[in-house]
Amino acid sequence: MHHFHFVGLNLHCESVDLAEIARLYGTPTYVYSAATMADNYTRIERGLAGLDLQICYAMKANSNLAVLRQFANLGAAFDLVSGGEIRRVLAAGADVRRSVFAGVGKSEPEITLALENGIFAFHVESEPELARLNHVAGRLGVKAPVAIRINPDVDAHTHAKITTGKSDNKFGIPLQAAPAAYVAAAKFPHLTIKGVQMHIGSQLTSVEPFVEAVTKVTPFVEGLKRDYGITYFSIGGGMGIMYQDALASGASAWWDAQPADRRPLTPETYGAALVPLLQPLGLKILLEHGRFMVGNAGVLLTRVEHLKRGAGKNFLIVDAAMNDLVRPAMYDSFHEIVPLHRDSSRRALVADVVGPVCESGDCFAKDRQLQEVGEGEYLALMSAGAYGHAMASRYNTRALPAEVLVSGGNFELINGRETFEQMVANESIPAFLK
Ligand SMILES: Cc1ncc(COP(=O)(O)O)c(C=O)c1O
Repeated sequence: MHHFHFVGLNLHCESVDLAEIARLYGTPTYVYSAATMADNYTRIERGLAGLDLQICYAMKANSNLAVLRQFANLGAAFDLVSGGEIRRVLAAGADVRRSVFAGVGKSEPEITLALENGIFAFHVESEPELARLNHVAGRLGVKAPVAIRINPDVDAHTHAKITTGKSDNKFGIPLQAAPAAYVAAAKFPHLTIKGVQMHIGSQLTSVEPFVEAVTKVTPFVEGLKRDYGITYFSIGGGMGIMYQDALASGASAWWDAQPADRRPLTPETYGAALVPLLQPLGLKILLEHGRFMVGNAGVLLTRVEHLKRGAGKNFLIVDAAMNDLVRPAMYDSFHEIVPLHRDSSRRALVADVVGPVCESGDCFAKDRQLQEVGEGEYLALMSAGAYGHAMASRYNTRALPAEVLVSGGNFELINGRETFEQMVANESIPAFLK
């Protein structure tokens, strides 16, 4: 459920008319709903009630400082993956001491920064990384808290590029090799074993792979508690969101109308299946959801440039492009496209919705049926809050898009559109070319 809905003929975010934001700040612009983020967070918290829970929002999904502050205010810690993300948590005035540092290639400066700021734990992906952590911690005269990431070899049944828990993915240590990795970790004088971690993939729409993975690793986790006194088990993130039916799924009535066997994954179903499996462990449970927290809390506003009518095909050319939202080009992903002003008297239009970038892959939708729209009208690409702005680039020397946060009837620019001067600020022409 989310807070994007029509009020009369105009699409609103909470109580704000999205066209007003588009006119004020221009397009392409991401707009986020603070209330939707809060709802998502509290539904996860309530769905897993009964566990000793630490929610570490996977900030790679959306790391705008205002978004981080919103989650920090709700009580979240963070799952972070770089020195830059540590700096963002600090800049947002949030807590590194309850946050975890993931990723397969942490550099020595990044490890140093994390240790200096009291990171809760490093999620370790390989044995060479244990040695590096030990080395840096020894140099600083501290002990590095670690949890090893187990790769449970479970198929998450999601897109190949966001599957992470199969044996042929680069992530984690196979379950069979994990006991030896813990033996090795225990021998390093500057490491403290704190927990165990896994993450099987992203955009999971059923609970079964989570249940399979937890069930598979539970005996091993029990052994770690006995042998090393671990205090936590992180089961990662991965809960999916609605991309199809994105607008309709904002209303609880839509969920009630779905047949029980076809209802997409909810925090309530997730909790009901996992709490009974996790509670007996008597460990703190960490969650690292990113997409679920912010995905349906954001839209990308864009403006129609032209309707180009071709021989057998129409192209709706908009001012957002693959550099602003790369998911369709990268993962063939679907985003529902909704005009900001609904007009039932218009004819239907079937078109490819494309951006101005010089790539055939710069296409948001193929043969999409929309209400006919023309130059200057606005559209919203729904469910764009996660892995949207965070993955944006400057390809074709296009400025990074603006971001706006809405709360009730208030809204504020939380990231101004980049200027040309900002884009080229670090570039220079060497003397030998002058
Ligand atoms: C270790 C880890 N945790 C959490 C996440 C967040 O996943 P999601 O956004 O699907 O919840 C990821 C995503 O790549 C990840 O690699």
